[in-house]
Parts: sequence; C-alpha cells; structure tokens
Amino acid sequence: MMDAMREIRFDRFGGPEVLVLHTDAEVPVPGPGEVLVEVDHVGLNPLDYKIRDGSSGRAQDLALPAGTGREMAGVVRGAGPDLDEAELASRGLAPGTRVFGMRDLGDSRGVAAELIAISADDLAPIPGETAEEDLPRWAGLALAGLTAIATVEDTARIAPGSTVLVHGGSGGVGQLLIPMALEAGASRVWATGRAANAERLRELGALPIAYDGTDWRAEIHRATEGRGVDVVLDTHYHSTFVPSLDVVAEGGIVVPLPSLADLTPAHERGIEAHVPRIRPGRDRLDRLAQGVRSGRYPLEVSQILPLAEIGRAHELLEHGHTRGKLILDVRA
Ligand SMILES: NC(=O)c1ccc[n+]([C@@H]2O[C@H](COP(=O)([O-])OP(=O)(O)OC[C@H]3O[C@@H](n4cnc5c(N)ncnc54)[C@H](OP(=O)(O)O)[C@@H]3O)[C@@H](O)[C@H]2O)c1
Repeated sequence: MMDAMREIRFDRFGGPEVLVLHTDAEVPVPGPGEVLVEVDHVGLNPLDYKIRDGSSGRAQDLALPAGTGREMAGVVRGAGPDLDEAELASRGLAPGTRVFGMRDLGDSRGVAAELIAISADDLAPIPGETAEEDLPRWAGLALAGLTAIATVEDTARIAPGSTVLVHGGSGGVGQLLIPMALEAGASRVWATGRAANAERLRELGALPIAYDGTDWRAEIHRATEGRGVDVVLDTHYHSTFVPSLDVVAEGGIVVPLPSLADLTPAHERGIEAHVPRIRPGRDRLDRLAQGVRSGRYPLEVSQILPLAEIGRAHELLEHGHTRGKLILDVRA
C-alpha cells in the first residue's frame, strides 16, 4: 500500500483556485463499517462548487481544510476491522470488486483522492464486465441518480398519465429525470434546454423546447390547450421557477432541485412545491446500476478531465450548461 497519495483539498472558501492537488496526503484507514476504495474516476456536481465557495448549507459546519467531491467509482482494496471477507462477500464488495457510490450527505469527507475510506452502505458493485472506456460513466451515476429517484418517486409522485415539464433535461440529473418520468408512466414529457441540446432531449424520450429560441410558457400553453402540466421538475430554478407557476395545471406540483430554493412564490399562489431530499440506500444504487446496464438510463459523459484540472472542471460546472456529466480521471 502507498505511504502517501494524491488528493484535492481546499483550506478556505473561494473560487476554483482554492482547490489544490496535494501529492503527499495521508492514506486513509477505513473505520468500522468502512471500505477502502482505490478511486479511478470522480463525478462532479453543482453541490461541489457550492460547498467550495461556502454558499451551500453543507458548508456551514465544514471543518477546513477539507476534501471535495461526493460521487465516484473505483475498486475495493480493503475494509475496516469489523468487515471480514465473508461479510464483504455477502455484500458483493470483496476486494478487487469494481464499485460506484456517493458519500452520505452527512459525511463531509471528499472523494477526489487516490484512496478513500467510505461507508460500505454507500457503495454498490458495478454488475458485469466493465470496459476501460466505460469506467467514467459509473462515477457520475450515484448522486445524480439518487437525486432523480428522490425527485420522481418520493417528491413529484409521478403517476401513469401525468404530463411533465423538465427544465434542464440535458444536465446530469435531467438526463435521468426524463427516462424515469416516462418509466413512472408520464404520458408526455417536455424538456427545456438550449437548441443545441434538442436532439439529445429527443433521444431521451422528451419533447424538446429550445428556451434560447422559443417562449417555453407559450409552447406549453399551446401543447396542453391552456391546461398546463401536472408536474414541473425544475433543475435550473433561477429564471424558470416563478414563470413555471403559470404552466402548472390545477392540483399540480412544482419540484425545484436546488436545496436552497425559495418556495414562497408557489405557496402564495396555493401551488404545491417541494425540494427533493436524497435518500441513500443500496437498493436504489442497485436499481440505478441495472438501469444503466439495460440501457434504460443512458446518462452521457460529456467531458473527462485529469485530477489536476479540477479548477477548470469547477469553472465549467459553474457555467451551468454541463451536458450529462463532467468526470475527473484520478489516475491521469
Ligand atoms: N435537492 C437535491 O438533493 C439535489 C441533488 C443534486 C442536485 N441538486 C441541484 O440540482 C440542480 C441541477 O443539477 P445537475 O447536476 O443536473 O446540473 P448540471 O448538470 O450542471 O445541469 C444544468 C442544466 O441546466 C440547464 N440550464 C441552464 N440554464 C437553463 C435555463 N435558463 N433554462 C433551462 N435549463 C437551463 C442546462 O442545459 P442547457 O445547457 O441546455 O442550458 C443543463 O442541462 C443543481 O442546482 C444542483 O445543485 C439538488
């Protein structure tokens, strides 16, 4: 085992420049219930920059210096004292197994490092054989996927026949919301995005609305003959949440994704609105893995950057137009 490793850390809140690649970080020792994972790729999420710049509620109690990143994929290399070989095997996590997962939101340690200690409950094995070029997509699945399940199943409660509007359908979460809404029985799913992403939205099964060339509210009014949609899943929020209240059908629901979304404008108009909360769980991770393997969740990786380019990755992420997932290659 290595005596030191590469890890991204930051010692103050700020811009992407606060993220520093250390080459002499201490190798973690897995505690009770934890597994040691050699990370190959890390998935990036807007939450990462909101923690880095201090704006996330999750940044409030964060002890600095801190690591960064929440979802990843890698290989099991060891385990804490209470997880013997039989226990690991019964969970499908024997040493050498390829795994993916996300740290529980209550665990503030990062994952952008060569080795991490992580709760065995926050991991699932990657089923079947995985080709080298397929590794990155597993790293971007857990957080986006658990969010999409929490949104569609726990919060929006999409029922057969529901009509749905997804804002930001080509983003990391959006690319999973569309197929999951259709699986839940939605009769029609419209998705907003730039015109450049219309074809991708159509491939995912949505009816694209190019917000940079069309008045999406007028489009929804026309398509629903003034009734509006039963459900709005709003991954963007900033310029879309308040106008969306004009296109919700009687008795409908709006689900903005950013955790700090202000729901007051919806409640003032008597419209139901909730922010989804991730519920971790092995059963959900296994379902996501099956969905990827079967081709039902074709979440796209648009860019892979080496670990050392984490600052540039955060800049791209903050730009707000990531298509599918942005991934860091920890080995590069
Ligand atoms: N509540 C939770 O537990 C939870 C969990 C995970 C994520 N989140 C939040 O969910 C949000 C989305 O996350 P993500 O990972 O999907 O982000 P992302 O991958 O960065 O995607 C952003 C998407 O927003 C779209 N977009 C930008 N401007 C838009 C506009 N004016 N109208 C419509 N769409 C627009 C982009 O599409 P174009 O390029 O086509 O514009 C892109 O598809 C973030 O705020 C994140 O913090 C919440």
